[in-house]
Amino acid sequence: MKHRTPILLGSLAILVVVAGFAARPLLRPAAARSQLPLDEFMGHVLQRNAEQLWAWSAEEIDANGTHSSRPVTEKDWEDAESDSLSLRELTYALEGSAVVQQSDPEWRLHIARLRAAANASAQAAKKQDYAALQKASNAVNAACVACHWRFAPALEVVPKYPGQ
Ligand code: HEC
Repeated sequence: MKHRTPILLGSLAILVVVAGFAARPLLRPAAARSQLPLDEFMGHVLQRNAEQLWAWSAEEIDANGTHSSRPVTEKDWEDAESDSLSLRELTYALEGSAVVQQSDPEWRLHIARLRAAANASAQAAKKQDYAALQKASNAVNAACVACHWRFAPALEVVPKYPGQ
């Protein structure tokens, strides 16, 4: 019984240390986080990277048949994996952005959805599974569109053809 208090205090000290570690990422100074305005991050960084990834599952049909740009060589598959992993890592930059002030909890859910799709794409490329790569590419696109519908709906309006 005599030693009870010091032991309790000891556990409290450990808890405080653990809590301190957990809180650290939140205390990252703004200068150590992305400073790029959201429209530039989207237009220059995310869009560009997503285009590289989508290029691996592009299928074009014309009078001469179907043209596929699917990965073929080992290097192609490596590159497809790299593009997927780059996109996945960019979701962390978006989430930790110093300039995006989004308190809506849906914001993080959309980022998590994009991250999961990019991750599935990386795993598909690693396994050289083309069907899974196509599915993940579509899921990436769906994740972009879903967030735009919620936070920038004007971006996803179906374009009208002249005369309509
Ligand atoms: C977490 C939400 C979210 C996700 C996920 C997201 N976007 Fe965006 N995106 C936005 C918002 C909000 C804007 C409007 C930014 C502004 O105008 O300030 C935007 C704008 C854009 C723009 C227009 C940029 C400009 O120059 O005005 C492009 C292009 C774009 N996004 C591409 C993408 C692509 C490609 C993906 C998926 C790989 C994606 N976005 C995923 C929220 C998101």
